[in-house]
Amino acid sequence: MSMKFFVIIFLFLLGFFVNTLSYRIPRYDKYDGCARIHDEYVTTGTNFFDYEDVKDCYESFPFDNEIAFQTIETLNTLFDGFYSFLYKAKEPPPRGLDYRPMDLLVQLKHLLRKHYDTLFQFMDSVRKLIFELKDAHTSFVTNCFSSFIFYSNVTLYSIVTEDVTHIDGRRAIKAISEFPSFISKDPGVRFNVAIDINYPGVTFFTRVDLPKTPSITYTLKCNNHVKCVKRNWKAIGIQEILDNFNNSETYFNNICKNSTLNYKLLSDKIIKIKDAHKNVYDIKSSKDITLLYEIVDFISFFKKQDFGVVKIMSENVPLNNTVAIEIIKGFQALVVLDLSDNIGGFVVISNFINLLLFPNTKTFYDMDIRITKQLNPVLQGLVNVSEMVSAKNFKKFQYVGNLIGNNVLIRGGVKEHYSNRFILADPYDYKDLISQHLITPLPWKSADLIVLTNSLCGSSCALIAEGASEVNNVTTVAVGGFVDTPLSYASCQGGIAIDSTVIFNIISKLNLQNNTIMPKPFILGAKLNIPSSEFYSMKYSDKLLEYLYRPADFRLFYNDQSFRDRSILWSQAAALIGKNSKHILDD
Ligand SMILES: *[C@@H]1O[C@H](CO)[C@@H](O)[C@H](O)[C@H]1NC(C)=O
Ligand SMILES: *[C@@H]1O[C@H](CO)[C@@H](O)[C@H](O)[C@H]1NC(C)=O
Ligand SMILES: *[C@@H]1O[C@H](CO)[C@@H](O)[C@H](O)[C@H]1NC(C)=O
Ligand SMILES: *[C@@H]1O[C@H](CO)[C@@H](O)[C@H](O)[C@H]1NC(C)=O
Ligand SMILES: *[C@@H]1O[C@H](CO)[C@@H](O)[C@H](O)[C@H]1NC(C)=O
Ligand SMILES: *[C@@H]1O[C@H](CO)[C@@H](O)[C@H](O)[C@H]1NC(C)=O
Ligand SMILES: *[C@@H]1O[C@H](CO)[C@@H](O)[C@H](O)[C@H]1NC(C)=O
Repeated sequence: MSMKFFVIIFLFLLGFFVNTLSYRIPRYDKYDGCARIHDEYVTTGTNFFDYEDVKDCYESFPFDNEIAFQTIETLNTLFDGFYSFLYKAKEPPPRGLDYRPMDLLVQLKHLLRKHYDTLFQFMDSVRKLIFELKDAHTSFVTNCFSSFIFYSNVTLYSIVTEDVTHIDGRRAIKAISEFPSFISKDPGVRFNVAIDINYPGVTFFTRVDLPKTPSITYTLKCNNHVKCVKRNWKAIGIQEILDNFNNSETYFNNICKNSTLNYKLLSDKIIKIKDAHKNVYDIKSSKDITLLYEIVDFISFFKKQDFGVVKIMSENVPLNNTVAIEIIKGFQALVVLDLSDNIGGFVVISNFINLLLFPNTKTFYDMDIRITKQLNPVLQGLVNVSEMVSAKNFKKFQYVGNLIGNNVLIRGGVKEHYSNRFILADPYDYKDLISQHLITPLPWKSADLIVLTNSLCGSSCALIAEGASEVNNVTTVAVGGFVDTPLSYASCQGGIAIDSTVIFNIISKLNLQNNTIMPKPFILGAKLNIPSSEFYSMKYSDKLLEYLYRPADFRLFYNDQSFRDRSILWSQAAALIGKNSKHILDD
């Protein structure tokens, strides 16, 4: 059951629900966009489609009150019952962070009062409202409007060096900043992600969301010459979806309502786009570095000049003794800890790495869960209390009641019940293994380390960065963001996400689907991700990590060389070790 403690942020894996909707598509027209896509697909075999056809296909379904009402009902009950930050989200942002404080349940209901012509308009405003929370663990996707990836074949790191001055006639930095990203509460992090070629699907240049216009015009300035480049959006489709419709009617029945559609295939496609860009910079092709050891797609140990670098790409590996020993071995030459472009994985990996780096300090973050009338009856199915340890006395919980406790907190003016604080038990199982395999005493001190990130160190990655910085005073350096504005070294520290599919499965396993307080499955194929447990700061034990602004001690910016060879950043980071920073104080 430890999959509950798996934290990762971007999700295009959608819902699997049967529904019995009898929705008619009055505007059925054999030349609609969906039909044109189909024709193009069968006559040419292409996977690339015109923006206009996809837009027309998406917009061919008229607004329907019943679908709208039921979608909002389901979302409201899910948020009310399972979203840990529901009332915290009403409080105004702390200095440095930026999101729209709101009573989400009220705002969702308000959406029903507006006028929509199409189903797309409605679903799009729901999705955008949820994005305004700026919580990377919280997102809403529908089968219907996530079938294509919009691709503009542009890599725009040079925005940093001001070669691109305007986008569609607006200042480039402003245009990129306004891209509706939900990835972080820090606008600088959102900016970094919007231009990060490692995250196709959620960037300005490669996105699942339907762009507003068919093309984008970039104004470039080189040697005082001004040149305009127009790029059309291309929509990339996947066979599994393209094979299943031939007009808007079949698109609606087979895609929008599909109960078995496998969106992992779309994620795989996105990964392929990412790989196509990878040769822009492959760290291993850097000249003066030596790869000492690696566990592919997880962790690599390098030597550069006279210092060591540990690069952690994700925490997405199950921990076992073999893996643990390999990590311990590698860690013996650490100086720069590079956590860039890491969107998380298992919390147990973060806890293990914290324990390994800082065996003498407590580096596991306290968690708790908002206890609600919907959550209470399904809690047993959602978490395994034997994997939890009380944060107070480090004793294992015996019963769900030990977890539930009796604590009341006020957030956003609302009194709510929260569980006893807990931490995950597993890392302790590795304490002996660490002492057996680690060279003791440790060959480094906190003062000899630096944490380097491009601010996209999210979720369980953030717990490693926070453990180093907030508890052990390790210096941090962040790359990119806005000039003259401090930048967070980590993002979305917040919580452990679950998705609505898991919730509905547990509800039906426990035979609670007829219970009126429980959420009803979405009427169309859709999925909501939400954090149901939350992490507290160790330094300020009453503050939630998700709502703390943590700017890095130092900043670096990409240039043409360091964009292509990220190991240059390692040298720049290593040079900062031991330097005094003007430490920016927390709130
Ligand atoms: C709960 O966790 C314990 C300890 O890790 C494990 O032995 C047990 O199988 C788990 N129970 C379930 C239902 O997964
Ligand atoms: C992207 O642009 C490059 C250079 O302009 C071109 O060689 C390549 O074929 C394009 N790729 C796609 C998928 O359009
Ligand atoms: C379109 O698909 C439907 C069912 O998926 C099928 O019955 C119909 O014959 C198809 N029409 C054409 C023109 O291929
Ligand atoms: C749902 O999509 C899958 C492909 O992912 C397809 O095989 C299946 O036939 C579709 N179901 C319906 C009812 O169209
Ligand atoms: C440990 O995990 C690794 C990576 O997932 C796997 O290859 C290996 O077989 C596992 N070893 C044991 C003993 O389970
Ligand atoms: C980190 O710094 C704080 C404040 O200067 C100090 O109280 C604490 O002991 C330091 N922690 C470590 C592990 O050095
Ligand atoms: C839920 O209600 C439906 C329709 O009234 C009924 O057929 C079904 O047996 C009920 N399920 C449970 C678990 O009570």
